[in-house]
Amino acid sequence: MTAAFTPLNPFGIEITGASGDHLVRPEAADRCQELLAEHGVVIYRELNIGDDDLVAFTRLLGEPEVARTSEHRHPEIDTITLDPAKTNATLAVYRRGNFHWHIDGATIEVPQKATLLTAREVDPAGGDTEFASTFLAYQALPEEEKARLEGLTVVHSFAAAQARANPDASEEERAAWERVPSRVHPLVWTRRNGRKSLLVGATAGQVVELPEDEGRTLLERLLEWATQPRFVLRHRWRRGDLVIWDNTGMLHRAMPFEPTSRRLMHRTTLIGEEAVA
Ligand code: SIN
Repeated sequence: MTAAFTPLNPFGIEITGASGDHLVRPEAADRCQELLAEHGVVIYRELNIGDDDLVAFTRLLGEPEVARTSEHRHPEIDTITLDPAKTNATLAVYRRGNFHWHIDGATIEVPQKATLLTAREVDPAGGDTEFASTFLAYQALPEEEKARLEGLTVVHSFAAAQARANPDASEEERAAWERVPSRVHPLVWTRRNGRKSLLVGATAGQVVELPEDEGRTLLERLLEWATQPRFVLRHRWRRGDLVIWDNTGMLHRAMPFEPTSRRLMHRTTLIGEEAVA
């Protein structure tokens, strides 16, 4: 069967008729890189890629992150579920953070380049994933606002993200979040090629140059701006889908589902190549 390519609105591309084993070839990986650069999100419908091929394909795209959680026989694969029976209990709680808009790796020096997420089990009642383009959101800002944001820097922390997801956490849990190092990044990420995007989301807690309240208000307003429907793509999962996104220019979040949901995703991520500047 020949694969069919359908561009999506406002961004993204959907590919039907591809097969997992066919993807694990250098030419297919090069094509995927091109599509990712052009469309931001690449969706292979019902690809049903196996775990070995998922890792092999990730390696063809770049250098995979290696998880330290021993959740899966492949250390490159994260098991994304809220069910403590399918992962470890602490991780299951942390995964509630995925319901809030975020950019993976915003608390490290070089955020991950891309994320690959494949659906092993889907939830018929929810659990879609939404993507918001921070490139489009920056571009659409009025010029005077762009000028105002230039030079501002933001503290990104695991604690800020978890405080949204788990507001009733104990003192002990909060202390554990605080032990994860935070990172200061420019609010506007300027790439080597001159493209700019907003670096906002759940990890963004405070603007260094502004009083606390003013900074928080600005960050919330920018997050609301960046996640307007005109900048958002919503993916309704089918079992076997593989979705790959440019993590550097894309906020994402899972839509709510129950902790007991059978929804199960396998995820790999690519180590970043460009520090935030
Ligand atoms: C993630 O935030 O990396 C996972 C998103 C999802 O499960 O839809």
